[in-house]
Amino acid sequence: MSGSPAVSLKEKEGTPKGSMGSLISTDPPKGTRDFPPEDMRLRTWLFNNFREVSRLFSFEEVDFPLVESEELYTRKAGEEIVGQLYNFEDKGGRKVALRPELTPSLARLVLQKGRAQSYPLKWFAIGQCWRYERMTRGRRREHYQWNMDIIGVPGVEAEAELLSAIVTFFTKLGITSNDVGIKVSNRKVLQAVLEKFNIPVDSFPAVCVIVDKLEKLPREEIEGELDKAGVPSNAVEGILKALSLKSFDDLEALIGAQSGAVAELKQLFALAEGYGIQDWLHFDASVVRGLAYYTGTVFEGFDKDKKLRAICGGGRYDRLLSTYGGQDTPACGFGFGDAVIVELLKEKKLLPVLPHVVDDVVMALEDSLRVPAAGVAARLRSKGRVVELVIEKGKKMKWVFKHCDTLKAKRLVLLGSTEWDQGKVNVKDLDAREQTLKTVDELIEST
Ligand code: HAM
Repeated sequence: MSGSPAVSLKEKEGTPKGSMGSLISTDPPKGTRDFPPEDMRLRTWLFNNFREVSRLFSFEEVDFPLVESEELYTRKAGEEIVGQLYNFEDKGGRKVALRPELTPSLARLVLQKGRAQSYPLKWFAIGQCWRYERMTRGRRREHYQWNMDIIGVPGVEAEAELLSAIVTFFTKLGITSNDVGIKVSNRKVLQAVLEKFNIPVDSFPAVCVIVDKLEKLPREEIEGELDKAGVPSNAVEGILKALSLKSFDDLEALIGAQSGAVAELKQLFALAEGYGIQDWLHFDASVVRGLAYYTGTVFEGFDKDKKLRAICGGGRYDRLLSTYGGQDTPACGFGFGDAVIVELLKEKKLLPVLPHVVDDVVMALEDSLRVPAAGVAARLRSKGRVVELVIEKGKKMKWVFKHCDTLKAKRLVLLGSTEWDQGKVNVKDLDAREQTLKTVDELIEST
């Protein structure tokens, strides 16, 4: 899904005749994309795969508005996503924002539906999200996200289902565990460390957001931010040590075997064996995630060549609903963007070939036969055939054959007056290079 070339109409064609206005730039706004047919085919293919995997896991599709009330996103933990909001006042003076993610909308809908629903809810959505981001490969100002969320299941069985869905998707696309891994951790690891240093629980979301920036910011800056969030300097060392852990044994040694984090992680990895996805998962305590609302398991998909940013990410957010005034409700889910995966498919030469498929080209050889030609096209379409009816005038046979070739059409149906007077049409099978005369009924029956 490439951006359109940076050529304005002016450079290309000069001022069109009869146009009074100055020529606009033909580029979409910075960081956004057009989807011309070839890119749209790829997007549709990708979304069909998202939908198919969601269906296999018995999830139902939901959708939300692109514009939401700004207060849905103005959380106080200093998350990057809040600073990247596309927000504005609407004509009624309401503060609104283009959604930067789908999770708050989902939480709002769950709250609205209330307890009347039969839980657990297993919902998926595919929607465009807007973030005023610094652009890098695979990161742009709009992207589509596939989300799968489970509401009402407190155990890691829910996370295991989600991780299995992600792996099912990768596998469907031809991606293997040699190409991609999923780093898994649990925020309770960090919580246990903060408890050791008597750091108030209130500062936990903000601390997670700061710690998530460890790879991006210099250490002094992280320490400064942690200091502001009420974390003493002697605790910083402990936090950094915890984040560097890569084995359950080391984790147990640091926070104790009785910690909820260790038990949950072990159970999740045991379930992964049952699903046969253990090769894809890697325990890595450095995964914290930059969103404030996660409370337990957190995970992120990454490419093993380390060329791209996170492919997908998610986790458990058992307290998001109560921050909106509802009851605490166990919930977990993930977001999977459309941009990074396409970059990965390109890297791995796994992009599908997706031609525009046409079954029949139908053409009246004389203007007087345009009405019956429309009728033939309509009958073929009612049988499910993809029909290109030639609606241009004065086209020669040479053009038609070339057109059929470009469209990779299977058949060409010609209406000429001599045959039509006998109730027949000329049918050319373009693959077999055979030509037959058929009545319209015979043509329709033979499809
Ligand atoms: P997130 O990590 O912010 O999580 O985004 C999830 C995925 O969306 C990323 O891994 C990436 O694939 C894609 N993505 C995010 N920002 C951009 C961007 N600027 N350009 C291209 N792709 C992007 C969330 O949004 C959570 N709400 C996910 C979630 C759902 N957690 C629980 N349920």
